[in-house]
Amino acid sequence: MKAAMIEKNGGPEVLIHGDLPDPIAGPGEVVVDIHAASINAADWKVRADEYGGLSLTFPYVLGRDFSGLISALGDGVDDFAVGDAVFGVCDVGQEGAYAEKIAIKAAIIARKPDTLSHMAAAALALTGLTATVSIEDTLKLQSGETILIQGGAGGVAGFAIELAKHLGAHVITTASAANHDYLRGLGADQIIDYNAEDFTAVVSGCDAVFETVGGDVAEKSFDVLKPGGRAAFIASGGTAPESARGDVTALRPAVGRDREHLERIAELVALGAVGIPPITEYPLSEAAAAHRVSEARHLKGKLVFKVR
Ligand SMILES: NC(=O)c1ccc[n+]([C@@H]2O[C@H](COP(=O)([O-])OP(=O)(O)OC[C@H]3O[C@@H](n4cnc5c(N)ncnc54)[C@H](OP(=O)(O)O)[C@@H]3O)[C@@H](O)[C@H]2O)c1
Repeated sequence: MKAAMIEKNGGPEVLIHGDLPDPIAGPGEVVVDIHAASINAADWKVRADEYGGLSLTFPYVLGRDFSGLISALGDGVDDFAVGDAVFGVCDVGQEGAYAEKIAIKAAIIARKPDTLSHMAAAALALTGLTATVSIEDTLKLQSGETILIQGGAGGVAGFAIELAKHLGAHVITTASAANHDYLRGLGADQIIDYNAEDFTAVVSGCDAVFETVGGDVAEKSFDVLKPGGRAAFIASGGTAPESARGDVTALRPAVGRDREHLERIAELVALGAVGIPPITEYPLSEAAAAHRVSEARHLKGKLVFKVR
């Protein structure tokens, strides 16, 4: 099979397009012929060794989410058939979606809704999983609450804005001016141009913050919470930053892998609560170019490989 892989850590130029043996389905696994795989910020962080301490076996295939058709069943898999359209997110500690095929546990993938293309399903898988775990399971956002979602134009935050509106929250978000029309279209009630205004000067009394940017933005996010407020952080490493305030809660969403959250994504799409983000399409052979765009951190929506 063809795959986009790295043979060492480094810049985007270490991504190469080449051949690897086809995977085989182990017990409880299926092989998926991948039609689309998305690019996530985690991919260039792994490529550049930003997480540190990952002992990758080279050649290493990046990529965490995908959509495609099942082409083989391992022993014990009885809830799917060859030819089923599925989408999913690789298991924690597993990657390999930048490829024509992947072997993956059947229990953590879900049927792709017919109404979603493979490109759209791949675009929504990890972002939707992260957003639903963060907004619903971790922050437990309630109707009538006010939430600040940092970095609204990004893949995870865009899904989170639509989900928070669907839950009945008042949504404030931050983005550069070029993305404000897009965010109004997602339903954001108030949009702050972070290049022109300090969000801490114009926002206060929030029930919740969903922080997807990291660095200083994360540290300052505590300032906008009301006493008893809670903040969830996904761009500050494996633990939430500590607050000097004793009256707010800092949370690090535990983004696991399971079928139920993928089915929740499908349900939200079917309800019309969440739409398909703007997608920029790349061939697998142009993974380096896709990484350069993702790594520049000013993306609107999602980058997705059209694999076949
Ligand atoms: N399992 C997990 O825990 C998990 C899963 C997915 C993602 N993540 C992490 O979550 C973060 C976001 O991922 P993503 O894929 O959604 O990001 P993304 O699609 O790459 O988006 C980055 C966004 O950040 C915005 N941005 C940059 N600087 C900003 C600032 N100072 N204030 C406000 N917005 C700013 C950009 O919009 P503008 O052009 O408007 O600046 C851009 O839309 C990454 O760090 C990623 O590693 C974690």
